[in-house]
Amino acid sequence: MADKAEKTFKFVVVGGGIAGVTCVEKLSSQIPSAEVALITAGPHIKAVTNFKQVSKTLEEFEIEERPSSVLVQTFPNLTVIHSAVKSLNTTSHCIETADGRVYGYEKLCICSGGRPKLLTQDNPYVLGIRDTDSAQEFQKRLSKARRIVVVGNGGIALELVYEVEGCEVIWAIKDKAIGNTFFDAGAAQFLIPSLDAGRPERLVQCKRPRYTTEEPADGASHIYTAQADLRGNGTGPTEPGSALGPDWHEGIAFRGVEEVSRRVSVEYQCEVEKILTSEELLSSQQQTNTPENGGSWPVYVQLTNGKTIGCDFVVSATGVVPNTEPFLHGNNFLLAEDAGLRVDDQMMTSEPDVYAAGDVCTACWEHSSLWQQMRLWTQARQMGWYVGRCMAAHVLSEPVELDFCFELFSHITKFFNYKVVLLGKFNGQGLGSNQELLVRCTKGQEYVKVVLHGGRMVGAVLIGETDLEETFENLILNQMDLTPYGEDLLNPNIDIEDYFD
Ligand SMILES: Cc1cc2nc3c(=O)[nH]c(=O)nc-3n(C[C@H](O)[C@H](O)[C@H](O)COP(=O)(O)OP(=O)(O)OC[C@H]3O[C@@H](n4cnc5c(N)ncnc54)[C@H](O)[C@@H]3O)c2cc1C
Ligand SMILES: *[C@@H]1O[C@H](CO)[C@@H](O)[C@H](O)[C@H]1NC(C)=O
Ligand SMILES: *[C@@H]1O[C@H](CO)[C@@H](O)[C@H](O)[C@H]1NC(C)=O
Repeated sequence: MADKAEKTFKFVVVGGGIAGVTCVEKLSSQIPSAEVALITAGPHIKAVTNFKQVSKTLEEFEIEERPSSVLVQTFPNLTVIHSAVKSLNTTSHCIETADGRVYGYEKLCICSGGRPKLLTQDNPYVLGIRDTDSAQEFQKRLSKARRIVVVGNGGIALELVYEVEGCEVIWAIKDKAIGNTFFDAGAAQFLIPSLDAGRPERLVQCKRPRYTTEEPADGASHIYTAQADLRGNGTGPTEPGSALGPDWHEGIAFRGVEEVSRRVSVEYQCEVEKILTSEELLSSQQQTNTPENGGSWPVYVQLTNGKTIGCDFVVSATGVVPNTEPFLHGNNFLLAEDAGLRVDDQMMTSEPDVYAAGDVCTACWEHSSLWQQMRLWTQARQMGWYVGRCMAAHVLSEPVELDFCFELFSHITKFFNYKVVLLGKFNGQGLGSNQELLVRCTKGQEYVKVVLHGGRMVGAVLIGETDLEETFENLILNQMDLTPYGEDLLNPNIDIEDYFD
């Protein structure tokens, strides 16, 4: 790649996902006269719609795929280039696309996201889910399936196992509890009954339930302290079973060929040892494994717990790998342990004039004690917005401070049709044994967990319509000493809002 850029832009942003699009919007509105290019591989871009600031740090929004023309109509000095970036030369400040064109930039932002980490490459029986296309491929395959194996314990796996109907799901996780990325074992116990339930029936919804009707699960008090063992084996979730919050599977019914509504069994604390075709299974059978379930299947999964499970196909939902390859060759990017591009508190990589945001980057500044990076929509949007501000500020020689949104981790989502709010060190991340937990749980209704550190609230998990998010967010942000309140903090007969607001 020589210095023959056909056009040089003030700003070039790579990636039409949430991070890239938000960055472009921010740049174009901060400096409307600047020429901005968005280079993206796909035909569509992702747009944030119905954005709602729920509280100081919590935000809710929807994601839509749109043609890029919408963006260009709003920002006339924006050019959208639909082609994949093939290489980058940070010395000459040039980027080359798959169609052989070369573009120059003054400042570049890489927002190329990530791709699914697959169990094995090029196995036709192993599917990763990343975008609308792969979700549709999954649906197609599922419509002919009787049994699938889902591997992974993050958000995608959680949603999948809940959404799939008419097909048996064997869910293999390496942890002791489901949803380990988001929950502790108590919350997992709370959610597990949802997997046994058929389509949920509508229960009467009530806000801030007062616990006059429901008996505690095991005759103990409603308020549990650390490591309480929470059991539940009953009622389904509180809302009708429409699509889950996140949009990626909205409007897509995940149905297999069987009559059953939902049939999920979990294989705990195991990983995939091997994936075998039926021929491979036959030739290895003499030695060890007899499949758990008879019959003949297109593919067999051998787990580290010794079980071999036959199924129609395997879904690999074990996380993402940052999409960095096209940018690395010939350059000196510093990478983090998770293979993301390291960025500092101004979202700058180790190469001059190159920034990064979203799933492709790893936040390597000194984090606030209440924040951690998680590769989620919320953070892709926040980083995209903030990187746009930084790039504009640097061009205008203005100072810029780390945005307030990186003070406190916060995320709203839905799992198993329950509203889920996560705040701060919601799983006691990094606290070790130096933490105290308060838990309150009503089965089928709500699960509330508070993480205390030195008498101060540092995190919370709120499942169900608890209406506690704003109060707890404030208590976490102001780091008030809560020792005097003790377990009253979660006493449902005390209105906490009145206490503190
Ligand atoms: C199935 C699924 C469900 C999810 N559900 C949730 C959820 O419920 N809630 C939540 O918060 N998060 C969820 N996530 C995570 C969330 O989608 C990501 O964190 C977020 O989309 C990251 O945004 P991004 O802009 O960094 O990257 P992406 O959205 O991945 O966008 C990357 C863009 O870069 C483009 N690109 C890549 N390489 C190149 C190249 N070489 N040249 C040009 N363009 C390139 C791609 O075409 C794409 O447009 C989910 C993820 C998946 C896969
Ligand atoms: C586009 O840029 C030109 C100059 O580069 C400027 O005059 C014009 O106002 C810009 N358009 C908008 C809508 O800001
Ligand atoms: C990058 O550009 C510089 C300056 O034009 C050139 O010397 C160098 O060879 C290029 N690097 C690659 C890997 O093409």
